[in-house]
Amino acid sequence: MFTRITTKYKLGAVALLPLFLFAISHTTAAQTAKTDEGQKLYDTNCAKCHGPDGTGSTVVGKAVGAKDLGGAESKKLTNAEIAAQIDQGKGNMPPFGGTLNKAQIDSLIPVIREFGKKAGAKKPS
Ligand code: HEC
Repeated sequence: MFTRITTKYKLGAVALLPLFLFAISHTTAAQTAKTDEGQKLYDTNCAKCHGPDGTGSTVVGKAVGAKDLGGAESKKLTNAEIAAQIDQGKGNMPPFGGTLNKAQIDSLIPVIREFGKKAGAKKPS
């Protein structure tokens, strides 16, 4: 009797494992998949300050002190913090909440994350 319950439980856990892994990989994919829309929004709204490569080394970017989006500081930001900063602005960065909706703001997060990956890939770790 006891053995049967244990076996059932184990089977249940094994059966749930792929679902669990799928959920994790699915979430990660949703966060990292860059869309064309996100890239376009970045090019139109952000690149003049943060640069096409995210480093902020454009003339305007240097003048306003735009942060390196692939830098260590940006990598530490959570998705919620990035979204809030785009929505509300900060310091010399204007708020985009009036021009971009939530889905558009969310589509910019993977673009920023990709800068972080590229910057990280350059340095030997
Ligand atoms: C007018 C120039 C300007 C534009 C346009 C601009 N930013 Fe910024 N951004 C800045 C500045 C300046 C900062 C640094 C703000 C501070 O911390 O004082 C910044 C900071 C950030 C940060 C935080 C980085 C960190 O390491 O803390 C993120 C994320 C960011 N910008 C994303 C974006 C996105 C996405 C867009 C386009 C929707 C955008 N920015 C458009 C100037 C700009």
